[in-house]
Amino acid sequence: MLQKIEQLMQEISALHAKNAQEAEALRIKYLSKKGEISQLMNDFRSVPAELKKEVGMKINELKNFAQERINALKEGAGESSASGSDAIDLTRTPYPITLGSRHPLTIVKNEIVDIFSRLGFTLAEGPEVEDDWHVYSSLNFADDHPARDMQDTFFVEAHPDIILRSHTSSVQSRVMEATQPPIRILCPGRVYRNEAVSARAHCFFHQVEGLYVDKNVSFTDLKQVLLLFAQELFGPETKIRLRPSYFPFTEPSAEMDVSCTICGGKGCSMCKGSGWLEILGCGMVDPAVLEANGIDSSVYTGYAFGMGIERITNLKYQVKDLRMFSENDVRFLDEFTSAR
Ligand code: PHE
Repeated sequence: MLQKIEQLMQEISALHAKNAQEAEALRIKYLSKKGEISQLMNDFRSVPAELKKEVGMKINELKNFAQERINALKEGAGESSASGSDAIDLTRTPYPITLGSRHPLTIVKNEIVDIFSRLGFTLAEGPEVEDDWHVYSSLNFADDHPARDMQDTFFVEAHPDIILRSHTSSVQSRVMEATQPPIRILCPGRVYRNEAVSARAHCFFHQVEGLYVDKNVSFTDLKQVLLLFAQELFGPETKIRLRPSYFPFTEPSAEMDVSCTICGGKGCSMCKGSGWLEILGCGMVDPAVLEANGIDSSVYTGYAFGMGIERITNLKYQVKDLRMFSENDVRFLDEFTSAR
């Protein structure tokens, strides 16, 4: 009998109830008329007289303990376990919530995407691990073009044809081979070049490339879109100038400068006294590129442009060292909490 009482004590002290229903089921199991404890009381009659006192006390103890325990379980199950408990001080000042911020490159990329999406450009993406065809051959790079050189391109060792894309122009090629004009896309993404890492160069960086192919697309369209873009990004006073340049996939090709974002064109250390800052490359899509990607160059023309996001971020926020962008130093990243 004493053993049985001891065993029930232990059993009851280990009880749990998830909700009020479970707690009630336990009350019935132990404390109702036919419950385990009442059963003990019935058996009490057969206890020898000399033990009656001791056993009686123990049974009472057990009954009180069970009542307390099951009441406590009922209370606990009725409320969510935290409130009402004096372990929690609701008057304490809460810990401040530290807000994260977007990465500066994401902020600037979003801004660029936003401007062009208002002009009807939609987003297109492609793989970072690419084949030679989409990065170079389909874009009119001659077999011996220096950009294919080991110094520039990362090759996948086991597959000389598989490389890390060195520009997002590969997405141009993928979209053109899959769709007929009109095509009006913007391709943001990470690109890789085999450069020694320093304040001014990195082995990976980010670009946004734009492509527009349709009937009657002209250089004037390109120039007007880029002027609007520059003024949206750097302010309405911004001027642009186009200088002749060369890219294998555009003809004619140009590089675009904007009037210096610091001195407005007067000449300062930022623009090295010239008043101009170079921000992107552009041009009319070479007809050979249209043909290589299955688009009839006697019907369609197009323009393309491409820019480095790091470069533009540097100009907007005067970041002096490219490595800051990939070091995840919270002191640097925190400076952009209030930016968009
Ligand atoms: N792909 C070129 C680069 O990486 C940029 C560019 C894109 C130039 C489109 C002209 C047209 O430098």
